[in-house]
Amino acid sequence: MDGTIAGFDLNRIGAEFIENPYPTLHALRRESPVHTNPDGSVFLTRYADVQKVYQSRDMLSDKTEAFGEKFGACPLGHHHTTSLVFNDPPYHTTVRRLISGAFTPRKLAEFEPLIDRIVDRLIDKVVDMGQFDMIDDFAKVLPTEIISFMLGIPEDLRPKLRGYSLAILGALDPEVPPDRMAEGNAAVTEFSEILDDLITHRRAHPDGAAQGEVLEALIFGEHEGRRLSQEELIQNCIFLLNAGHETTTSLVGNSMGVLLDTPDEHQRLKDDPELITSAIEEFLRVESPLQIGNRLAGEDIALKDRVLPKGTYIHTSIAAANRDPAQFPDPDRVDIVRKPNRQIAFITGLHVCLGATLARIEGRIAIGKLVARCPDLHGTGPRTRLPLARFRGYTAFPVAIR
Ligand code: HEM
Repeated sequence: MDGTIAGFDLNRIGAEFIENPYPTLHALRRESPVHTNPDGSVFLTRYADVQKVYQSRDMLSDKTEAFGEKFGACPLGHHHTTSLVFNDPPYHTTVRRLISGAFTPRKLAEFEPLIDRIVDRLIDKVVDMGQFDMIDDFAKVLPTEIISFMLGIPEDLRPKLRGYSLAILGALDPEVPPDRMAEGNAAVTEFSEILDDLITHRRAHPDGAAQGEVLEALIFGEHEGRRLSQEELIQNCIFLLNAGHETTTSLVGNSMGVLLDTPDEHQRLKDDPELITSAIEEFLRVESPLQIGNRLAGEDIALKDRVLPKGTYIHTSIAAANRDPAQFPDPDRVDIVRKPNRQIAFITGLHVCLGATLARIEGRIAIGKLVARCPDLHGTGPRTRLPLARFRGYTAFPVAIR
C-alpha cells in the first residue's frame, strides 16, 4: 500500500489494519467504495453493495479456479474446494440439506440445558482461578464442546481442534506466508485421518445416541437419492467443526472485549440482564468474527454506481458493511439496544450461516451468565489479536475477578 486509499491493496495489508481495520474501511467506503486491487479483484465496503452481492443468485461461491491458483494441488486446496461453503448448487444444496436437519430450532432447544451446564461449570472454574485467560479458559471451551458433541468427537481430541481450525482457516487470508501454508496442509492431513477413522467406525456401529447424531445424519442421510462419499464427509465435517467453534469463540471473546472497553454499556447490561439478546446483535455488528467474504460474478452485477462485469472476483467487507453510516447511525458507537440493527455478521442469501441460531444461543448464555456472575471482571494486561484479516478475534486476553 502506498499510504493512500487509492493505493490500498487487500493482498498487502499490514499489522495496523489487523489491529484496527475500521479507520481504513471507513476511508475506503468514503473514497473508493468499489475498490479495485492491483490483481483486478474488487473490495466492497458499502452495506447496500455487499447485500446486493449476497442476495444475487448469480454470484458464485465455487472456488475451484481461485483456490487452484492459490493452493495448487495440496490438502488445503482439496479441503476448501470440497466443503459446502465454497461450492454452488447442486452439491451445495445436497450438503446443506443434510446438515440443516441438525440445526432446526427444536433440535437446538434440546441443547440449551447442556449449554447451561457447561457454562455454569466453566464459570465455577474461572471464579476459583481468580485470574484467567478469557479465550483459553472460557470463550473457546463451550463452542468446542458443543460442536464436538454434535459430531461425536472423543474428549481427548477436542483440545486439538482450535489449533487445527486456526491453521486451516488462517490459510484463507489474502496473504499467506509459506510457513502458515505448511501448517494448514499438515492440519488438514492429520485432521482428515482422525475423521476417516471416526466415520468408518460410526458407519459400522451406528447407535443413534445424541452424541454424534449429526455425524450419523451426514453418513446415512440422502438428498435426492445421493449420499455423501467418505471424502466429502471428511472435508465437510472438518468445515463444520471449524465453523462451529472458531467464530463463536471470537463472538464471546470480542463481546467481552467490547464490554470492558465501554464501561457504560457493561453497566447497562449488568443492570438489565434482559438486554443480552439485543447486545449480542450489537457485538456481532461492531466486531464481526468473520470480516471478509468472497464471490465470483457469474453474470454482470449493477452496484449503486458501477457495473461489475461477469468474471470479477469480489471481496465483501462484512465488517465495513456493519459500520456503514448509511445503514447504522453513529456506526462506531456501541449501543446494546440499537434498533433497528440489521447487522449481517452471518451474511444473507443462499449461504447464510447455518449455525447462526446456535451461535446466538451460545453467546447469550455464555456472555449473559459471565456478566451476571462476575460483575467485577476486568482486564489485567494487553490483549493479543489473531494475526488474521478475515477472522477477527483474540489469541490472548488476560482478565481477573476482584
Ligand atoms: C458468531 C459465530 C458465527 C459467525 C459470525 C458465522 C459466520 C458465517 C458466515 C459469514 C458464513 C457465510 C460464508 C460465506 O458464504 O461466505 C457462514 C457459513 C456457515 N456457517 Fe457460520 N458463523 C458462526 C457460527 C457458526 C456455527 C456455530 C456453526 C455450526 C455449528 C456454523 C456453521 C456454518 C455453516 C455450515 C456454513 C456454510 C453455509 C453454506 O455454505 O450454505 N457457523 N457462517
